[in-house]
Amino acid sequence: MQGPILLNDGHKIPRIGFGTYKATDEEGVASVKTALQSGYRLIDTAAKYENEKAVGEGIKASEVPREELFITTKLWRENLGYAQAKKAFAESLKRLNLKYIDLYLIHWPANAKNHTNWQKTNAETWRALEDLQSEGTIKSIGVSNFWPEHLEPLLETARVKTAVNQIEFHPGYWQQAVTEYCKAQDIVVESWSPLGQGRVFGHPVLEKVAKKHNKSVAQICLRWIYQHDVVVIPKSTTPERIKENKNILDFELSVDEMRTINEIPKMGFSGELPNEWPDKV
Ligand SMILES: NC(=O)c1ccc[n+]([C@@H]2O[C@H](COP(=O)([O-])OP(=O)(O)OC[C@H]3O[C@@H](n4cnc5c(N)ncnc54)[C@H](OP(=O)(O)O)[C@@H]3O)[C@@H](O)[C@H]2O)c1
Repeated sequence: MQGPILLNDGHKIPRIGFGTYKATDEEGVASVKTALQSGYRLIDTAAKYENEKAVGEGIKASEVPREELFITTKLWRENLGYAQAKKAFAESLKRLNLKYIDLYLIHWPANAKNHTNWQKTNAETWRALEDLQSEGTIKSIGVSNFWPEHLEPLLETARVKTAVNQIEFHPGYWQQAVTEYCKAQDIVVESWSPLGQGRVFGHPVLEKVAKKHNKSVAQICLRWIYQHDVVVIPKSTTPERIKENKNILDFELSVDEMRTINEIPKMGFSGELPNEWPDKV
């Protein structure tokens, strides 16, 4: 199970990565540098986080060779559509100060609530990503927050299959149906908010399992996701936690522990639904 996951396009994605949502400029540079120097190789950012420049600086400051890294960024929902996507991607690349991106994701799907012809909007956006991939400035292309109802029409017109779907996935909200659909389609699932942004801490089941393994609740969450064969990208701007979150390979959750965590009732959900959120584009 250790080692990267092979994507359906032949590229490889590390199983453990580093998130940067809500990291300020200063935190972004320092935390990305710390993460890379602690051994992380996957960095996840997005145009919407407004920290791509800081992430790029952190990458440079780490002095890790570019070819060892797996950098993800995302197209924000205001830039859906062919021409807008291409322009937004060029701007992201410039802010990151990179020559190519390893994984570029459509951050949120166009949906029926916010778009009159949402299927066409998603298809046109995807076509831009396919063209950028064939030009060589993106290695792998994927989506985020897509449910099967968004993926199915997309896959019908796609020339290139979606490699990754990044979704909210943590104890108490792990979108089992979406995950199973993606796995059946050979689409790798990546977990966002693997710690529910802290909302899952304090749950008695997680605390009990953590005590048993002499690990933190954060490490239990991350290990549980890892054992689901789902990529994790925890965010932290605290150096000790950055290191702690990577240290999940020296223990294993039993089948019973996996099931008990699977069965935790709904908790920690962000409230963000692909068909409801946002109210307005
Ligand atoms: N595609 C999407 O729509 C989407 C949405 C949300 C997030 N994401 C991505 O997923 C990444 C991770 O999700 P997230 O940032 O929302 O939340 P998260 O990783 O679940 O939680 C981050 C929070 O947990 C704290 N934390 C981290 N490690 C900890 C530990 N070991 N012990 C205690 N507290 C700990 C952090 O605090 P400190 O920083 O103070 O240490 C921070 O407040 C994001 O950064 C982003 O890259 C994507």
